[in-house]
Amino acid sequence: MTASAASSSGLFVPIYEVSTELFISLDGLRMPARRGETVIAVLLRNAAALGRSEFDGRSRAGFCLMGACQDCSLWSEDGGRIRACMTMVEDGMALVTAPPLAET
Ligand code: FES
Repeated sequence: MTASAASSSGLFVPIYEVSTELFISLDGLRMPARRGETVIAVLLRNAAALGRSEFDGRSRAGFCLMGACQDCSLWSEDGGRIRACMTMVEDGMALVTAPPLAET
């Protein structure tokens, strides 16, 4: 199965065929990815934003795309924080847009 540029629903439009060789998820939404892609490339190919700003609630989609601004911060389900623009996809990555609640 492949997704073509014409079927892209996100902010980024791929110029190549996207195979389904691996998958990642964001808040439970499963998305196909290609080996060698960054997380932000996959997410913005499938959505118009990465999440909402913790300060004003506005949509976030990354700003610098080079690891400097932190606007692309996401969390793994075990609580680890990543920068989506600096992290390569791995099959089965399960990411969330908000940090998991701290255990008390
Ligand atoms: S978009 Fe700026 S750090 Fe990722």
